[in-house]
Amino acid sequence: MRKPIIAGNWKMHKTIIESVDLVNDLKVSLADVSPDDITVIVAPVFTSLYAVHEVLSKHWIKLSAQNLFWEEKGAYTGEISPSMLTDCGCNYCIIGHSERRQYFGETDESVNRKIRAALHFGLSPIVCVGESLDQRESSQTFQVIEKQIRGGFSDISSLQMGNITIAYEPIWAIGTGKTATPEQANEVHAYIRKLISQLYDSKTADQQCIQYGGSVKPNNVNSLMEKPDIDGALVGGASLEAESFTSLVLGTLKAYSKA
Ligand code: PGA
Repeated sequence: MRKPIIAGNWKMHKTIIESVDLVNDLKVSLADVSPDDITVIVAPVFTSLYAVHEVLSKHWIKLSAQNLFWEEKGAYTGEISPSMLTDCGCNYCIIGHSERRQYFGETDESVNRKIRAALHFGLSPIVCVGESLDQRESSQTFQVIEKQIRGGFSDISSLQMGNITIAYEPIWAIGTGKTATPEQANEVHAYIRKLISQLYDSKTADQQCIQYGGSVKPNNVNSLMEKPDIDGALVGGASLEAESFTSLVLGTLKAYSKA
C-alpha cells in the first residue's frame, strides 16, 4: 500500500519570519492528521531552512530543500551541498524542477548526479519530470517523460527507488491555473509506473510514489487524488497559505485510498 505525499514547494517566497509563521500555523491546522496516513513536506528557501527545522523539531512534518549541488564541499561559489542540507534538518530535496531545467540549464545528466548525491547523504529526492505545451501538442509527452526517467535514474537501483518520489509536473500546468484533467494526469502516471516496471520490476513500480504537480488547488485535489496512479501532489501557489495547504492535505486524505 502506497502512502500519499503532499509537498509544498514555496519557490522563491517568504522571509524567515514569514516561513516560521506558516509552519507554526500548519502545526495547529494539521493537529488532527496522522503521519501514518500521509506524508506532509514543506520546502522553504535555503535561508529559512534552519529556522523552520527548529520550529518543526520533533514534529512529523518533513523538511525539504528545493535544490542542491552534488559535491560535498569545495570552490563552488553559491552552491549548497547535500550534507549542508542534512545539517539544516532536511529529509528531502526537490531535484530537476522544470523551472531549474528551464532557467538554470539543468539536464537529465545533472539531475542524475544530484539524485545520486542526495541518496548518498541520506536525503530523499523528489524528482520532477514533465513536458512543455509544444511537446504535448506534438504528441511527444511519453517520449519526453521516458527520456527524463531513463536519464535521471541511470544507475539508480530498485532499492534506491524506494527512497525516491517522482513528481509528474506538466510545464503548461505550473502556475498557470490550467490543471491537467485527472484523466490526462493519470494517463502519464500510469505510463511512468509501467516504465518503472520495465526498468526495474513490478514490485518497485507498485510501491513507487508518483505525485502530480501543476495548479493543484483545494477545488481540484479530490478528483486528482481519486485516480489510481496519483499518489499526492507537489504544490506551489496553494502551499503558501496555511488554509489552502491544509485543505489539500485533508482533501487528499479523503480522496486517496489505494490498495
Ligand atoms: P503550482 O506549482 O502549484 O503553483 O502550479 C507547482 C510546482 O511548480 O511544483
